[in-house]
Amino acid sequence: MKLEDTSAIVTGAGSGIGEATSLLLAERGSFVIAFDRDLQSAQRTAARAHGLAAGGDVTSTEDLSAAVGLAGTQGSLRVLVNAAGIARTGRIVGRTLNLADAYPLAEFEQLIAVNLTGTFNAMRVVATAMAAQDPADEGQRGVIVNIASLAGLEGQIGQAAYAASKGGVLALTLPAARELARHGIRVNAVAPGATNTPLLGTDDYRAHLAGQALFPPRLARPEEVAELVLASIENDYINAATLRIDAGARLPPK
Ligand SMILES: NC(=O)c1ccc[n+]([C@@H]2O[C@H](COP(=O)([O-])OP(=O)(O)OC[C@H]3O[C@@H](n4cnc5c(N)ncnc54)[C@H](O)[C@@H]3O)[C@@H](O)[C@H]2O)c1
Repeated sequence: MKLEDTSAIVTGAGSGIGEATSLLLAERGSFVIAFDRDLQSAQRTAARAHGLAAGGDVTSTEDLSAAVGLAGTQGSLRVLVNAAGIARTGRIVGRTLNLADAYPLAEFEQLIAVNLTGTFNAMRVVATAMAAQDPADEGQRGVIVNIASLAGLEGQIGQAAYAASKGGVLALTLPAARELARHGIRVNAVAPGATNTPLLGTDDYRAHLAGQALFPPRLARPEEVAELVLASIENDYINAATLRIDAGARLPPK
């Protein structure tokens, strides 16, 4: 997919992987709609990417439709990157063995709502708009990249809820790519290992996670993940793929 004269929607564009991806998309010629529930951070990214900010929540169809409307004023909407996400950890059964200490159901539901339902919602809203556009080269109408996680493949103790949300994102990649092929839309998933963004919490935890990489023995930079996202957009033969980027890490049980 050639990016000149296209527009792109990036969810979670205000920080981390979404921010880095927005900047790279802009560098390669796409007009970026920086979508984030934190409007100020979306505005910061939009200013750096010479794009437009859209404050909104991925669970809101109305917010996503407004972003599609903005994108439509700036060239054909050819790219969706689903990078909005939240992370929480916690054991299913609490240490006290009291049910009151078990993993809170509301927190499980929130993780699924943002990471899985939000990704699906953005896909259905944006793909509907993409499918109605005139095709570009070889009948292509767009590319969707969903940011999953290694946790979706090898969830660790304490990650059952987060892993379930990301496993769902991985599971929908193939059926979505199969269905949307007839519209000329490709769908890929990128599964990063631990990446140096605000999502990761304390320095101790970061150091622990960095130790899981084989080589280089450090966290991924968000720009490195963004490069892989861009490769899966620009290379027309990458479809229905789950692309790991993890410096060889295989997550142990904890
Ligand atoms: N950082 C990592 O180690 C890592 C590893 C694997 C996967 N991921 C995934 O990558 C994606 C990006 O994470 P990141 O590390 O860049 O985190 P981040 O916290 O730096 O950025 C996430 C962004 O998403 C936005 N967001 C959260 N909920 C939203 C919602 N409901 N609607 C709209 N925007 C919302 C936040 O405001 C934030 O700007 C997430 O899906 C995360 O699960 C991250």
